[in-house]
Amino acid sequence: MTGQPAPEDLLAWLAADLADQVVQHYRISRADAVAMILADWQARPRLVAAAASANSPGDVRRLRVYRDAAAATKRDVYHRLRRYRAAGTAFDDAVQALAGLPPGSLPNLVTELVTAVAAAHVSTAERLPHLDEFVAELTVVTGAVETVVDAGCGVLPLLFPLDPPAGHGVREYWALDKDSRAITALREYARVRADQRIRPLQWNIADGWQAAFAAGLPARCDLGLLLKVVPAVRRQAPGLLRTLAAIPADRLVISGCRTAMAKRRDIERRETRELQRFCAEHALTEIGRFRTADEICLVVQRDR
Ligand SMILES: C[S@@+](CC[C@H](N)C(=O)[O-])C[C@H]1O[C@@H](n2cnc3c(N)ncnc32)[C@H](O)[C@@H]1O
Repeated sequence: MTGQPAPEDLLAWLAADLADQVVQHYRISRADAVAMILADWQARPRLVAAAASANSPGDVRRLRVYRDAAAATKRDVYHRLRRYRAAGTAFDDAVQALAGLPPGSLPNLVTELVTAVAAAHVSTAERLPHLDEFVAELTVVTGAVETVVDAGCGVLPLLFPLDPPAGHGVREYWALDKDSRAITALREYARVRADQRIRPLQWNIADGWQAAFAAGLPARCDLGLLLKVVPAVRRQAPGLLRTLAAIPADRLVISGCRTAMAKRRDIERRETRELQRFCAEHALTEIGRFRTADEICLVVQRDR
């Protein structure tokens, strides 16, 4: 930032200046960072008052009230970026729009609305810019499969190609996640499709596989998907990894992120090591690998 702002623009100037620092470290656009910072600061009357009576940015920057606010705002940006669902009502609004569609609606309309849901789910949204590439790679390595179990699925099943021309011959796609709002979105999608192929199930890894079998999950599926889940579970609840590894499929695709969710940091090597450790600990052998712009994927086979 250069130049001296007019006193009435001081807060906006400071927000833009802080946003310049924030975008260097965090995966957020400058405009979003400025908006987020200003929204945070408007809720701090002491800072607003200090900026209103100061003569220059330097005067404000020297104050403890500013330094505390700047530090708290950076923490807030970090925590918001680490949420899977977008802030505000974007996710729920998109799901509500999907809920308004009758079964058997026009495919183009369904695609438009499910893409809006996916775009409001950070982890799935990361794939949107190169979705075709991801799907093509997945198809090559997995071949023809009829049954899929996707554990910690988020809303990825909304984007999985079930229909021509790229459509897989998948008969049953079991979509399991503990996140009730993701599962609500998938239930709406399944209702609109009206073909029984997407089978959403609210399920926590801690519930164990018997609970999923009791809900109809086949004893064995042709393909298991653990996408961007293993490293997250290792961080949050490592005791659940053993259950995750017992996913009822002998061929799996397991993936990790190449870039951190919130910070602009390359984590590919660290995540790959996590995936390899998971395989080594649970008798899974890597038989292939592919990567996309944001994801490293191992194709693995269960040892006999
Ligand atoms: C990084 S997101 C990945 C979502 C999706 N697989 C994808 O690649 O887009 C991790 C997902 O794992 C789910 N998850 C984390 N812990 C879980 C648990 N204990 N049981 C079920 N799902 C879990 C989260 O709710 C979230 O949807």
